[in-house]
Amino acid sequence: MNYPYQLRTFEAYQDAYNKSINDPEAFWAEVAEQFTWKKKWDKVLDWNFKEPKIEWFKGGQLNITENCLDRHLATKANEPAIIWESNDPNEHHRVLTYKELHFKVQQFANVLLNNGVQKGDRVCIYMGMIPELAIATLACARIGAIHSVIFGGFSAQAIADRLDDAGAEFIVTCDGAFRGAKDIPLKSVIDDALVGNKTIKRVIVCTRTRTPVSMLKGRDVWWEDEIKKVETMGNPKVESATMDAEDILFILYTSGSTGKPKGVVHTTAGYMVWTNYTFVNAFQYQPGQVHFCTADIGWITGHSYIIYGPLSAGATTLMFEGVPTWPDAGRFWEVVEKFKVDILYTAPTAIRSLMGFGLDPIKGKDLSSLKVLGSVGEPINEEAWHWYNEHIGQNRCPIVDTWWQTETGGVMISNLAGVTPSKPSYATLPLPGIQPCLVDENGTEIEGNGVNGNLCIKFPWPGMIRTTYKDHERCRQTYFSTYENLYFTGDGCLRDEDGMYRITGRVDDVLNVSGHRIGTAEVENAINMHAGVIESAVVGFPHDIKGQGIFAYVIYDGTHGDANLSKQDIIQTVSRIIGPIAKPDQILFVPGLPKTRSGKIMRRILRKIAEGDTSNLGDTSTLLDPSLVQQIVELAK
Ligand code: WTA
Repeated sequence: MNYPYQLRTFEAYQDAYNKSINDPEAFWAEVAEQFTWKKKWDKVLDWNFKEPKIEWFKGGQLNITENCLDRHLATKANEPAIIWESNDPNEHHRVLTYKELHFKVQQFANVLLNNGVQKGDRVCIYMGMIPELAIATLACARIGAIHSVIFGGFSAQAIADRLDDAGAEFIVTCDGAFRGAKDIPLKSVIDDALVGNKTIKRVIVCTRTRTPVSMLKGRDVWWEDEIKKVETMGNPKVESATMDAEDILFILYTSGSTGKPKGVVHTTAGYMVWTNYTFVNAFQYQPGQVHFCTADIGWITGHSYIIYGPLSAGATTLMFEGVPTWPDAGRFWEVVEKFKVDILYTAPTAIRSLMGFGLDPIKGKDLSSLKVLGSVGEPINEEAWHWYNEHIGQNRCPIVDTWWQTETGGVMISNLAGVTPSKPSYATLPLPGIQPCLVDENGTEIEGNGVNGNLCIKFPWPGMIRTTYKDHERCRQTYFSTYENLYFTGDGCLRDEDGMYRITGRVDDVLNVSGHRIGTAEVENAINMHAGVIESAVVGFPHDIKGQGIFAYVIYDGTHGDANLSKQDIIQTVSRIIGPIAKPDQILFVPGLPKTRSGKIMRRILRKIAEGDTSNLGDTSTLLDPSLVQQIVELAK
């Protein structure tokens, strides 16, 4: 497969960009022509940001798995679709060719059908990083079921909330997952999540760790047994379900600044076109190359750049079950050497943590296959950028710093590897179709270069969020109401003298901890559930490896044991309610929280104290009790 829409020169990028702005419909129609449709669309784009209504390729019909699998069979049947590397370096890796993956997806699609899953049903997937996770995801798409993948680090309570919100009736999970030295009992977490649940009809359990699990009669079945049944049936073909362009492909929950996580909805055609287009262009993927995205499929990066982007492009995608630092900090480089990885796409937090181990783990590893490096999830600091460039890319691999979000479906602002200029710590230029703008507090656009503002997008792109599941108003309020007729990203941004964009971080109450999005309100809710906690306020603080750490100010009235023990109890509560990823790094017991007379917590002050910068706390005269600030400063010392 070649990619007629792959932009190979800076001029080609400029032309494409201009065309995408001047005539977006013609531009995207041309790209969409390259895919397999059951029926062509009637209208390329219908939209307004008021409701919002976003419809791409309306009237078109397709199935994304036909584009990810069937259409490659003629030319790539025996080429690797997925290469899987185990957590255990001594376990043999697995390769699934396009033909095998096509077969296995249909097999599991049959399992889903046999278990009563129908088009439009919500299937929750809670698995470790094994090929069966990709197979289950694609099998849902094959039959038109809506998948909702939940990251393995979320707790039973967090899963229960998501199952409930999605109205899920089916779960696909594993007995357990291997991650470094740990063995995470996934099924047992699911069992806890299902206490009292009345909607789940079936739990399909794939064997990985063979940890003892409870299997409830009538509800729980083994993946392997169900596959055997399908084999007995003679592995019938599963024709791909006919999906409307705007039918929901998946729901993925993500944190916002308020309340519970929201179910970001992506639909079929636009998401497919966008992940494919951005994959082929940002990474400049060439046929035959091995693409290694180190994200977990439980996050959007895994959805878009392990599964849908690469597979829709007929690429070879590498799935790694383990962690970068186990059994030692050379694991990534071993994997790169072993599979002659061409493209490595990872997060700044991983780079920073590996930097901490020095150069020894890299010594003797052959990284000469690498051609392109990528970064995603948080701003990459210059030091990490240079280390990545020098020691991993050996000064010959372009680094793409890709800015995007769960809500955007795919990369929005990034250099195109080796094609457009890069600049350390800058995401640089928008992809074709993306019209970024910076606005001030009042929503007035800030024109010109050398300016700072809140990052918004003016015009729809195919991969954008359509709604938040079953709550369209929440989608409108969160993204489309802050500034009229603009999609608001929640990020602050600088546009330099050359018109290059640099993301400066969230301007709302969303933290980015090790590249994971966590809402401060969510953590506060969890902390407040702990007996003895009266009130809390959570802010981020700069953390050398995680990017941001979680700092919790807690008003506590508990009397059980010493303060340290009580802090451990609180951490345990957060771990139960959200998951280990949201555990506070620091807890400070305080007599009160700095509030304005109208009752608003002054987070600005708390952030400064958490940063250890108390030299200038700004104006505290509007506070209800200004003396409190000094007390907190003393306690924080
Ligand atoms: C941040 C991850 C700077 C940003 C794909 C965004 C980044 C949030 C970058 C989305 C980058 C992501 N440079 N910041 N290259 N990429 N971010 O939804 O704050 O998990 O709003 O999507 O991560 O996180 P999410």
